[in-house]
Order: sequence, then C-alpha cells, then structure tokens
Amino acid sequence: MKHQEELSKANKKIDEKAKIVQSTQWYPTYHVAPKVGWMNDPNGFCYFNGEYHVFYQHHPFSPHWGPMYWGHAKSKDLSSWEHLPIALAPSEDYDQDGCFSGSAIQIEDKLYLFYTGNVWTGEDRDHDLKQVQCIAVSEDGVRFTKDVRNPIIANAPDGNIHPFHIRDPKVWKKDEYYYMVLGSKTKENVGQILLYRSIDLYEWEFINIAATGEGNFGFMWECPDIFNLDSHDILLMSPQGMKPEDYKYHNLHQSGYVVGNLDYQTGTFQHGPFELLDHGFDVYAPQSTVDEQGRRIIIAWMNMWESEMPEQQHEWAGALTIPRVMTYEKGEIRCRPVPELQKLRKEKISFQNINVNGNIELNEINGNSLELQIVFDAKKASTFGIKLRVSESLGEETVLTYDTTSEMLSFNRDSSGQGPKGVRQAPVQLKDNKLHLQIFLDQSSLEVFINDGEKVMTGRIYPDQHSSSIHFFSQGECSIIEVEKWNLGSAF
Ligand code: FRU
Repeated sequence: MKHQEELSKANKKIDEKAKIVQSTQWYPTYHVAPKVGWMNDPNGFCYFNGEYHVFYQHHPFSPHWGPMYWGHAKSKDLSSWEHLPIALAPSEDYDQDGCFSGSAIQIEDKLYLFYTGNVWTGEDRDHDLKQVQCIAVSEDGVRFTKDVRNPIIANAPDGNIHPFHIRDPKVWKKDEYYYMVLGSKTKENVGQILLYRSIDLYEWEFINIAATGEGNFGFMWECPDIFNLDSHDILLMSPQGMKPEDYKYHNLHQSGYVVGNLDYQTGTFQHGPFELLDHGFDVYAPQSTVDEQGRRIIIAWMNMWESEMPEQQHEWAGALTIPRVMTYEKGEIRCRPVPELQKLRKEKISFQNINVNGNIELNEINGNSLELQIVFDAKKASTFGIKLRVSESLGEETVLTYDTTSEMLSFNRDSSGQGPKGVRQAPVQLKDNKLHLQIFLDQSSLEVFINDGEKVMTGRIYPDQHSSSIHFFSQGECSIIEVEKWNLGSAF
C-alpha cells in the first residue's frame, strides 16, 4: 500500500511539469531522459514480451540526486520510446532511503527486478549505510510489487568484504542456476565483485569474490555486469577513483571492461587488462541486455558524478546514451549504434570529394539534432577535423581534431557553451590513411563512433540553441571522401 501511495505522489509530481521541462533548450530529441527531475544509472535493461524496457535511477522531486526511485521507459525498436509510470519508490524499512541500481530478468511470463535497498544509518554516507538486495515482480511489465520475502540478501558475506558497500545486483541464468554479481570493495577500499548463485531466485549462495582490483583500479566497483561474447567472458563495471594515466582516466570515475574467463564452479574471473568503454567525458554505469536476435546491447548514463549539469536550471538532469551493440571481433571489442536508429533519419544531404585546406562549411550541413557520417582521407594534413554547434558571433564550438603525428583523436568542449569544459583523447589509427566518423548530435550531447565502433567518445555539451553551424577544417590538405547528414526526429 505504502509503495503505491509513494508511486502516485511521484507520478503526479512529474506529470504536472513534464510539458514545460521537455520544451526547454537542452532537452534531448531522441535520447531517453527523465520527464522531470534527476536521472542516473540505467537499471533493469531487458527485452520483455517483445519490447525493450529500460529503468533508471530517478529522483522525481528535484533535478538533484536524492532518495532513489526507478523511472521507466519502453521501446519496440530501440529508436522510439514511451515513458511509463515510475516502477519503484522507496517505501519499506529495508529500502527507505532509496531503491538503488539493479537489473531485470524475465522468468516465464513475469518480469523480476533485482535492486539494492539502501538505508542511511548515520551522518557519514560513506560509512553509515546498510545495503540489501531485493526483488520486485510484475506480470504486465508496468506495475511492480515488492516481494514479501525481501530482503533476499540481507548481509555481506564473511571475508575481506566491506560490510556495507554491496550493491547493484545483475542477474542472469546459465544452465540450471541463476547467477548474481554485486559491486563491492574490500575492507581496505579496493574494488571487487561478488558472485552468487541460486536455483529459485530467493535463496542465494555466495560462491566467491570473483575479481579484486590490483594496482590503479579504484576503491569501489559499481554496477558490474558479466556476459559472454564470442566465447569470451566480459566483465563490464564502473570503478570509482582510478587515477589519471597518460590520456586515460581523466573523468571522476571510469566505466570499462575486462575480457577473460569466469569459472562458474570456483567463482573466479581470470582476465586481461582494463579497457575503457568510452574515451569521452560522460559515460557511467553501463548495463547490457541480450535481445531476441541475440545481440548484446548496452546503454549507459550519459553524465558523470559531480559534473556541472546546466539542465538543472530547467528542472531536469541526466540522459541515457543511445543503445549500442557490443561485439567481440578479432580480439577487440566494438560498440556500434543500433541500426534501428536509422528510423529517426529525415532527408539526407550528402557531398563527395571535397578538398579541405583551412576552414569550410557545406550547404545545409548544420543542425542541433542529427547524425553525420564522414570519411576523411588525411592526405598530407597534419591535423584535420570537424567543429559542431558553432556560432562565430557567440564564440561557441565543439571540436573533434585528428592529429596525424600523435595519432590521437581529441574531443574539445572548452568553448562548447555552458557547462563543464575539457579535452579527452582516444588513440586512433588511420586505415589506408582514412578516418571514419559516425556522429550523433542531440540538443546537449555528442557521441562519436570512430572507425566502425573501434572507439567511442561521448560528452554532454550545452551550447546556445542558435549555435548550429558545422565547419570542416584542415592544416595542410585533406579531403572529405563523403559526408552524409540526416536530421533526426523525436524518439517520443
Ligand atoms: C552508480 C551508483 C550505484 C548505486 C546508484 C545510486 O552510479 O552509485 O552504485 O546503486 O548509483 O543512485
């Protein structure tokens, strides 16, 4: 009962303001964002009864983090989305200060949500907390009932495991068992993950600490996810507190993966080095699901903790990335935008064989919400690239530059407009002296897929709405073999 009341209050609150919020300048055209209020991690990403569902950490009462609810949206095709009522609200003793992150799994015709119940037990939020694992169930994929047996995991296991930081259950099935992985840390603040198994989803047996960080690997691992790609086990996770190294780890926290092998009997994960999932500014807490076609699809929070979020002045904060298909090909992970996004494309504008030496604009290649595909031939250029969301009079631009000497692609948002600044870099090798970029620009975001998903760079930007020009530039001659542009329509 209490749960239903809390949900009604929250749903009423967001419906009052949704229209106004969604008409403000940085509200995305085709990314999932909260109708009103705050969003962080995607949760419970799944394919249920022929539709994709994504939930998210949500605070409906303000554009700032607070007691966590689960917001909810669904899609038939990963390009058009529909908002649904809030699915979970804090309402019980065991989750009174938040329904934290977790996952979803379909069993027969029901959808099970696994989430972390969070309770503050004192003033120090790093130490005075109790985190337990819980279940909520739905038959229609819209209304969820918290299970009377909650919490289903009430305490951290014995051993070198921090007793209170234990959260973000991701559940999957393999052979006769369900498995669950949890984010955690040691008593000395080293990130690690815990592996459990269950026959019935309610009784969970702790198997082992599957992996613990060594060296510069963070003080806590959040939002772990384990799955198999092309006979390799992938552990996707979000380590907090890795120190910057060279061009890497300049964001407050990181998201990435290791490739290896999970021994389900001993519960240990042998793996190679940590790789970043995205080389930009704003990707955190990615979560994956597998769909009917067997594709591994990931979606992430397109923000970073503690970054400035100018959209808060308009009563909302946070968005999800576009969904990306993750594959393992010839020893490398690739992430490509889901092809269904082509459904959002409007009329196409394209040009071929344009020489660039200096700065040029192309007729009708401009806009704020669009997809661009570009193939550059570097020729003799030392640096070349593209500027987006440009206004010469306002001095705004967001710049992607390829440097042929350092073989780095950089994303510079120092002059993007309001909001956080900085530069991020990704090592990128030209292929036959060519660079391929697939760019998704929305009202306050940029996602760049480099050389067919070899690398990705994502960032939030907050330009003036009139900053919509696009420039191509080169130091020394380069050529654009082809550029194609489509304005993208609304996903809602
Ligand atoms: C990751 C995270 C999770 C937690 C949630 C709380 O961004 O800190 O570990 O469950 O956010 O909103």
